[in-house]
Amino acid sequence: MNESADRRSQRAARQLIESWQRAGVTHLKRMAPVPQPPVEEAPAIQPAAPVVSQPPEPSPVQRETQPVLEAGSPLPSAPAEIAPRDVVNETETPRKEMSVARTAKSKLTKAERQAELEIVAAKVAKCKKCPELASTRTQTVFGVGNPKAKIMFIGEAPGADEDKQGEPFVGRAGKLMDKIIEACQIKRSDIYIANILRCRPPGNRNPTNEEADNCRGFLDAQIEIVDPDYIVCWGSVAAKNLLHSELPIGKMRGQFYEYGRARVVCTYHPSYLLRNPSAKKNVWDDMIYLFADMGVDLKAQS
Ligand code: URA
Repeated sequence: MNESADRRSQRAARQLIESWQRAGVTHLKRMAPVPQPPVEEAPAIQPAAPVVSQPPEPSPVQRETQPVLEAGSPLPSAPAEIAPRDVVNETETPRKEMSVARTAKSKLTKAERQAELEIVAAKVAKCKKCPELASTRTQTVFGVGNPKAKIMFIGEAPGADEDKQGEPFVGRAGKLMDKIIEACQIKRSDIYIANILRCRPPGNRNPTNEEADNCRGFLDAQIEIVDPDYIVCWGSVAAKNLLHSELPIGKMRGQFYEYGRARVVCTYHPSYLLRNPSAKKNVWDDMIYLFADMGVDLKAQS
């Protein structure tokens, strides 16, 4: 290529990049090497045409990446039962109906997130989608904690204590959860805690599918606003509903799933631990696994 052709192609490339920037593109995917056709004759005077990649679809929002996540290793694939429908790979376009993909919420300050959560909580307080729950609850139990938490805990549904106090995980199971939180060397106020349901099912029965579906929009709104890097599903009701898996909780442990942009770990519910204390070791292993992904060695701290 002579000098002026070289300058022209540099200018064209610069203009292309500037047009992408104006369109909001800040990052380009690394291109796979483009296979060159085997050149048989006179390669020196047949320069390959410049390969211009199509700009990628701009993400709605650039994620506030944590260094540890930037360096994250690839995730193992989810079990076949849930992979195609419910586990969204970060590189895939999220399903339309899933409202937790990267959104503008990632840019909100802590105070703005708190304000948004309060708006959703006010809607929850008025919700009567599940007539039985609405007529038996003392109050709704929305969620608690850091509106900009890196880790979000998801339980099943409020019990009697939570129904009375209006806060998740304040009863016996909650006290045990507090001990687990303390053992992880973090504070309850560092994380955000919510449930699949925001009302207590009478007699602490399991939530029905319809109730979980009715409450899903509120849960997704909380996840979207808090925008956590990690979610812990405590127990099979949380895991099953968040990830639409039918696997027993024991089979869901020990690997990461993805929900929106969060990495999800599933473990036993604290109420199960109260009945089966020997499973505490498993939960501790799950915490070690989760924190190791964040670059924190809980083993070294214990
Ligand atoms: N169990 C749960 O799953 N959630 C609570 O908030 C309390 C007990």
